[in-house]
Amino acid sequence: MFLMNAELIELLRCPDCSLPVEEGDQFRCAKCGASYPTSQGIPRFAGEGYVASFGRQWNRYDVVRDEEDEATFRIKTGVDARDLSGKLVLDAGCGGGRYALLAARHGAKVVGVDLSSAVEKAQSLCQEFPDVAIIQGDLTRLPLAEGVFDLAFSIGVLHHGPDPRGAFREVARRVKPGGRLAVWLYRRNSPPQEWLNSALRAVTTRLPARILEPLCVGLGLVGSIPVVRRTLNKVANFSNHPDWTLRVCDNYDWYAPRYQSHHTVEELKTWFAEEGYDDLVELPPARQGRLYDWAYRNDLVIGSGVNVAGTRRSSE
Ligand SMILES: C[S@@+](CC[C@H](N)C(=O)[O-])C[C@H]1O[C@@H](n2cnc3c(N)ncnc32)[C@H](O)[C@@H]1O
Repeated sequence: MFLMNAELIELLRCPDCSLPVEEGDQFRCAKCGASYPTSQGIPRFAGEGYVASFGRQWNRYDVVRDEEDEATFRIKTGVDARDLSGKLVLDAGCGGGRYALLAARHGAKVVGVDLSSAVEKAQSLCQEFPDVAIIQGDLTRLPLAEGVFDLAFSIGVLHHGPDPRGAFREVARRVKPGGRLAVWLYRRNSPPQEWLNSALRAVTTRLPARILEPLCVGLGLVGSIPVVRRTLNKVANFSNHPDWTLRVCDNYDWYAPRYQSHHTVEELKTWFAEEGYDDLVELPPARQGRLYDWAYRNDLVIGSGVNVAGTRRSSE
């Protein structure tokens, strides 16, 4: 990993005062004196906080599926991973590291940041790639230099914190002028779907993992029943992914996290524009078909996304 080399250290910043950090036993800010340890080869600029469920989830479930990850990456970023060779890429909220791994395999230099202990999974997944650095940090206090990345992407992340707009701002500012940013967030559904989901999650987010996990396994079974899996999931969310592990993991990913906000395309486009991005494109979902398109356009597909990519203006 380029973790301890000069190139990475150049990129690191104190999350409190945004100044470069010095390397010693720990990373240390020359101005405020704050120090940040490294453990298991991972610089730790933040503790796990409110995302502990993700640490559990990504360390428990093995979700790398090469072909599917490649397709998902292309759909959710609008970028063909084969074009990433030599590019400096930020995976903002890398989770267990499946997309950081993908970008590294295509020759990118990748910095993956996540707040949870999922960084340990990401680190072990990417350990054979010298050009990947995994950092534990908070996107709202990013320990990275501004205006340096050729591409930043954030897939299913910003809606899992108390301040999605603030996290967006910080990620958007790490992209260099002329660089690209792609963001995928949960779509806001119809009011009845939103009410039911909030009521369900008000319960599930309070359950201990030893109870919630078996419930997610049960939902995994529901998600395998033909007809039911395509109809009932318009009422309440459960995964109907054909792969059992991904189905159970997706269910836990929906019902465990403390924060989950839903957004509109207009809102996300406004965020891009406010941060000085042009060439905005709304990226279409993976699934197509007349019925699906109709349900998607009418915000009826629970768990679907709003997905926008844009280019940072050179004058900003
Ligand atoms: C649904 S997972 C997505 C992970 C990855 N992008 C993927 O698609 O596999 C959301 C991730 O966002 C991370 N996250 C949430 N809030 C964060 C924050 N403020 N800073 C950094 N990471 C955060 C969580 O720890 C979690 O791993």
